[in-house]
Order: sequence, then C-alpha cells, then structure tokens
Amino acid sequence: MTMSLDGWPLAEPYKTKMIEWIELLPAPQREAALRRAGYNPFKLLAQEVYIDLLTDSGTSAMSQEQWSALMRGDESYAGSLSFQELERAVRDVLGFPFVLPTHQGRAAEHVLFRALAHAGDLVANNLHFDTTKAHVLAAGATPVDLVVPEGEDPEGDFPFKGNIDLARLDALLRDEGDRVAVVMTTVTSNNNGGQPVSLENLRAASEIAHRHGRLFFLDAARFAENAYLIQQRERGQASRSVAEIAHDMMACADGCTMSAKKDPMVNIGGFVALRDEDLYRRLRDFGILYEGYATYGGLAGRDLAALAQGLREAVYEPHLRYRVAQVGALHQALKDCGVPVMSPAGGHGVYIDAGRMLDHLPRDVFPGWALSVEFYRERGIRCVEIGTVLAGRDPSSGEHDYPPLDLVRLAIPRRVYSQAQLAQVAEAARRILARRRDIAGYRFTYEPATLRHFAAEFAPLA
Ligand code: F0G
Repeated sequence: MTMSLDGWPLAEPYKTKMIEWIELLPAPQREAALRRAGYNPFKLLAQEVYIDLLTDSGTSAMSQEQWSALMRGDESYAGSLSFQELERAVRDVLGFPFVLPTHQGRAAEHVLFRALAHAGDLVANNLHFDTTKAHVLAAGATPVDLVVPEGEDPEGDFPFKGNIDLARLDALLRDEGDRVAVVMTTVTSNNNGGQPVSLENLRAASEIAHRHGRLFFLDAARFAENAYLIQQRERGQASRSVAEIAHDMMACADGCTMSAKKDPMVNIGGFVALRDEDLYRRLRDFGILYEGYATYGGLAGRDLAALAQGLREAVYEPHLRYRVAQVGALHQALKDCGVPVMSPAGGHGVYIDAGRMLDHLPRDVFPGWALSVEFYRERGIRCVEIGTVLAGRDPSSGEHDYPPLDLVRLAIPRRVYSQAQLAQVAEAARRILARRRDIAGYRFTYEPATLRHFAAEFAPLA
C-alpha cells in the first residue's frame, strides 16, 4: 500500500461528482488498432485507450469552482469581466501586473519570440521544450540548452536536475551576450523528467542575465509543481507556503510564458505575463496580430474565467501534495519491479529509460518508441516517446539528432486517475519488463519532414 507523508494510505483529497466510462478493449482489437494507427500512439482513437498517459496537458479534471466560473464567463469582446478576473489572478498568484492571453502555451512562445528574437540571435534555456525550440528556430534564432550535467543522468538523486548551468550561462553571456535575445528557464523541466529548478538557481540565473543586461523569463507551465518541489527539497524552504515560493520564483523574472493546460488545469489556454509596461506594449501588437484582441487572445471569456480560477487552485497545497505523491508512488512501484526510471521522481510524470530497459535494441530502431507501443499492447495504456523519434533529424547532416536518452513518459493528468488505475500501469510495466527480450524495434514507413512523431507511421522489425 502506498503511504503518504503522514503515514496514512495515500488518498485523493477530493471526491468524484461526474464520471466518464473507460473500457479496456480485448487484445486482438488493440492489435488491430495499433496496425491501423501505423504503430503510432498519437493516431489511436480516444475510445481505443484504457488509461491515457499521453500528456498531462489539457487533460486534467476541472473543479466545481472552475465549472461555475465557466458559466459566468463574460463574452465582451474588449475588457471583459473574465479578463479582469484573469488579471487579478495573475497579479495575486504570480505577481505580474500585465497579462496577454493566448490560446495555449506555444502561442505565448510565438508572441514572445516574434517580439524579442531575430535572425542570428541566441536563446538560452535549461532545456527548451520542443514547441519552445521550434518557435525560437522559427524566429531565425538558435536555442541553446544549458542544463546542469546531473540533468542528463537518469540515476543519482540530485534534487534539482532542472537547474541551469550557471557557469556555462555566464560564459555564454560573456562571450556572445549581445546575441542572446532572452534567457529562459523551464519550470519544471519537462524534457528530462519534470525535474525542478531550485530557487537558489533561479535567483542566480536571473542575477547573471540581468548583470549582462538580458531579460530573464520563465516557461511556467508547471510552476506550482516546481514550487512544491522546492518546498519539499530545498534547504530553508520547508516552512514556507507554496504560494510564497511561487511568488519568489516569479520575482526573479521579467515575465513568463504559460501553457495553462498544465498546472492551471484548463483544457485550453495560455498567456504571457510581464512586469514592464513598455515590454507589454511591444508584445501586445503581436498578440493582437496572431491571437486576437489583447483582452481575450484567442480564448472565449469563459475560458479566461476557468483559467483565472485554475491558476489560484494550482498552488493549493493539498492538491499538490497528493499529485506529487501519486507521481512518486508510480515512480517507486516501477523502481521496485526493476524498471529503469529517471530519478528522483519529477512533478508530472514518470520517465522510463527505455534505452536501458530495451538495451538489446540499437537506437536507430527506436527503443523508446517500441516501449510506448508495448504499453498499449499490454494494457491499453497510451504514453509517449521522448527520444530519438521526437528529436527529429539534424538539418545539416540529415541524420537522427540523437538526444542523450531514449525515454518514455507516463504523464499523469491532474485529478483524473485513481491509485488503483495507476496500479494497472505499474503491473503492465512489470509484465513488459519480463518479456522485454522479445520486443522488436521499428522502422519508418512514413516519416514527415517536421514534428515527425505526431504523424509518422512505422512497421515492426521482424
Ligand atoms: N512549455 C512546456 C514546458 C510544455 O511542456 C509545453 C507543452 C509547452 C510549453 C507548450 O504548451 O501545449 O499549451 O502549446 N507540453 C505538452 C506536453 C504538449 O505534453 O508536455 P502548449
């Protein structure tokens, strides 16, 4: 039985008011679904999936307070009441006076980089999430990843594997500072396991960026999980509230981009939040051009209202305590049965080191992809490869742009699955591990030129 911090069995801090049936298809139907989908979990239909751990983005359950906010949404084109609610929530929770809504996180990135990055520029980050990287590239700039070396080690229990390497950041700004459009930090760092960034590291990175006259931004999609992990892991933070810590994190930054589909628990939405009015005005022009007028940004008034409420709930400690414990319990269950997982557990999911688990498969036959297919085959579980297929090809050489690890992410939607359902996931992993030598690799039968993982099709190798 999984225990929580107080020694009692881990239990959801909410009860269910509305339910959605899920069904496990029989094995032959799952096999047929895989064939039809070209062995690509993105191409499975929702009704073919039993437990959907593809993403924690836009898949969380809203609270009754969010649903009632939705009903009260004000649909005025300009200056709506719901926008004002969002402004207040952003000010209260994050401390930023200006907010530019966008339809989701990548739209916030689009607006930010269109305004700030130009051809030949650099953008530094601990680890760029793929949409962030794509928007930096689309602006003609080059993304530079500066995560600490511990962040590339799946083992070892360094508590802040999302930290940015301060020495490398300082050197980059010293040598090429004029070219650096913006310094960012992604909290938590999605690409290496939902790993947190310490407050100490955020403060130091902010100081370095500002000393070199550069802007410092956060990619804040999972800021509340990051703040909770700071409270749990960073010296001197245990007695402080998550809300205070979140404020301190934001106080380091000139602004943030937000995919509100993660910690703020809406099905769609995002924003850029800013401290400086001049900067807000510069970005606003692009927001209006790409997203819509500055007080709705591609969202309905009701979406803004649900988002404002969700942002406040994001830092609610009983929610975070349960959520992070639930992720930790799945992490521990997989570790206990010998599945190699990225450690320590992160904030929003469990990442399996598929390259190690399927070490009989060379990287060019995609062990991460193969493992993600097996989760569906074994128990109708959908998850996602974060490895060679996702990384794509190096544009200059045309070769696979091998990332450090071939990972599979089991992302846990917020407030959706029970402990018993996640026990199914752990059991599936145990059974896959037992038959791992029989798992074959894959080859492309269709490989799109960009963002290939979404639409690619594969055939198993003999
Ligand atoms: N930044 C981070 C750290 C993200 O994880 C994501 C999305 C985005 C930005 C982009 O936000 O999807 O609202 O446009 N991550 C999703 C995921 C897709 O599954 O991790 P978006």
